[in-house]
Amino acid sequence: MSTTTVETPAWAASDTDLTGKTVLVIGGAGGVGEGVTRALLDRGATVVVTSRRPGTLDDFAARVGDPRLHGETLDLLDPALAQRAAELNDTYGPFDGVVVSVADWGRQGRKPLLTLTDAEWDELIVQNQTTIFRAYRAFLPTLTPHGMIAQLNGLSADLPFPGAGGVALTAAATKSMTRTIAAELGRRGPRVYEVILGVIRTRARQLAGVDDERWIPAAHVGAHIADLVAGTSPLVGDDLHYFVDLVEGPRPSGAGSVEGA
Ligand SMILES: NC(=O)c1ccc[n+]([C@@H]2O[C@H](COP(=O)([O-])OP(=O)(O)OC[C@H]3O[C@@H](n4cnc5c(N)ncnc54)[C@H](OP(=O)(O)O)[C@@H]3O)[C@@H](O)[C@H]2O)c1
Repeated sequence: MSTTTVETPAWAASDTDLTGKTVLVIGGAGGVGEGVTRALLDRGATVVVTSRRPGTLDDFAARVGDPRLHGETLDLLDPALAQRAAELNDTYGPFDGVVVSVADWGRQGRKPLLTLTDAEWDELIVQNQTTIFRAYRAFLPTLTPHGMIAQLNGLSADLPFPGAGGVALTAAATKSMTRTIAAELGRRGPRVYEVILGVIRTRARQLAGVDDERWIPAAHVGAHIADLVAGTSPLVGDDLHYFVDLVEGPRPSGAGSVEGA
C-alpha cells in the first residue's frame, strides 16, 4: 500500500486544546470516524467511540492505543436506545460534542432507483434515515448547553446520484433533518451542524488500494470538528458546512465552507 502525504494546512494543524472535553463519536471506528477520533485524541479530548460490534471496538482500541479512548457498543436501531444513551451519559457525560458518522450503502448494490424492491427501499430508509433521527432524539439531551452535535453527510445530499438514488435521497433527507433541528433549537441550546463531505481518504480505502492525494484526509475533518467543539472555528455560527475539496470550490450561497488545504 502506498500513500501520499498531503501537506497539512495551517488551520488543520491548529493546536486547539480539548483537554477536559469529552466527545462521543457514533460510528467512530468507521473510515471517517477514525480520522475524527484520532484528531480529537491528538488535541487532548476524551473520546467515546461506538460500534455495533465489540470485536470492532477491540481492534480499534488496539490500533489507536490511547488511554483516553473508550469503546462502547451501540446500535441506533436498538429499541432501548434512550436507556443506552442515558447509561453513556451517566458514565461519560454530559458530552461537549457528539459526532454522528453513520451511513450505509445498503445491500442492494448499484441499480436504478425505480428498480429498488420494497424491502430494499425500507432497509435504506431505516439504515440511513431512521438511525440519524434516533441519534438526535437520544443524544441531544446528553450534550452540555454549550455543546455541539455534527452529522457527517455526503455531497449526494445535494446531487443526483444515478445507481445510488436510495443513498442520495436519504442523505438529502438527513440534511433537511439536521437543519430543521438546528432551526428549531435556534440559539437556545447545543449547536447543531450539518457537515457535508467530499471524498475522504480513509484507512479502509487505503487498505483496499484506493487512494488519491486530491481527496481530503479524514484527520482534516477531525480538525474541523475539534475547532467546532472548542468553539474556535470561524464557522461556529453557521449550521451548514461544506468540506468537499482540497481547494475552495463552488457552494450554495450562504453556506460555510472549509478549505481542505
Ligand atoms: N468515506 C467518504 O469518502 C465519505 C464521503 C462523504 C461523506 N461521508 C460520510 O461520512 C460518514 C461516515 O462514512 P464512512 O465512509 O466512515 O462509513 P463507514 O466506514 O461505513 O462508517 C459508518 C459507521 O456507521 C456505523 N453504523 C451503521 N449503522 C449503525 C447503527 N444502526 N447504529 C450505530 N452505528 C451504525 C457503523 O458502525 P459499526 O459497523 O462499527 O457498527 C460504521 O462504522 C457517513 O455519514 C458518510 O455519508 C463519507
